[in-house]
Amino acid sequence: MVIKTAEFVKSSGKWQECPEPTLPEYAFIGRSNVGKSSLINALMNHKDLAKTSGTPGKTQLINHFIINEKWYLTDLPGYGYARVSKTLRKDFENLIINYILNRKNLVNLFVLIDSRHTPQKIDIEFIEYCGESGIPFSLVFTKADKLKPNVVLANVEKYRQELLKTWEDLPEIYVTSAEKKTGGDEILAFISQTNQF
Ligand code: GTP
Ligand code: MG
Repeated sequence: MVIKTAEFVKSSGKWQECPEPTLPEYAFIGRSNVGKSSLINALMNHKDLAKTSGTPGKTQLINHFIINEKWYLTDLPGYGYARVSKTLRKDFENLIINYILNRKNLVNLFVLIDSRHTPQKIDIEFIEYCGESGIPFSLVFTKADKLKPNVVLANVEKYRQELLKTWEDLPEIYVTSAEKKTGGDEILAFISQTNQF
């Protein structure tokens, strides 16, 4: 898919405030600092469409972008950020959960996972929650440039094995680096395939 236009639409503090669900939507989620905003910028070939930061907890609202005037791309706040108060963390989690359960035009949720780590409880729990709730999702491993390719593959395999303990089928898996701009074409191809753009 060629990205002709990518424009910011709005930030929403509640799922009810999101743009009218009139276009297909694809959202990016994952732990705080996993690289959601960076991956969105890499996919869109844009330096600072989505705001990024070395400090976790940068994205605190639901941010909608409209791509090629045909579909919505959504940058969500991260889950599991330990260094905010419990109440604030709960607020983020409620915002995310309400969004994914209620957003009618959501075609796919890309769940981002830091490829440097072995399976983390919070990610596994979130993935299982998506599965149990019938949310269509894919797994996207990020920051692959930080490790040797064989180590990345070994970490991905550990996730696959962990998920296969409870599931027969696994979702689509992508390995990406926003830094090196790798893996993005596959994600865009998937988005094209799931819609007639
Ligand atoms: P929150 O909005 O806080 O939840 O974070 P986020 O998931 O949007 O992460 P963000 O894109 O802001 O990136 C967090 C940090 O990781 C930044 O310092 C990025 O430069 C870095 N980063 C993101 N993607 C990559 C990548 O592919 N490779 C490398 N080396 N660093 C990355
Ligand atoms: Mg962000």
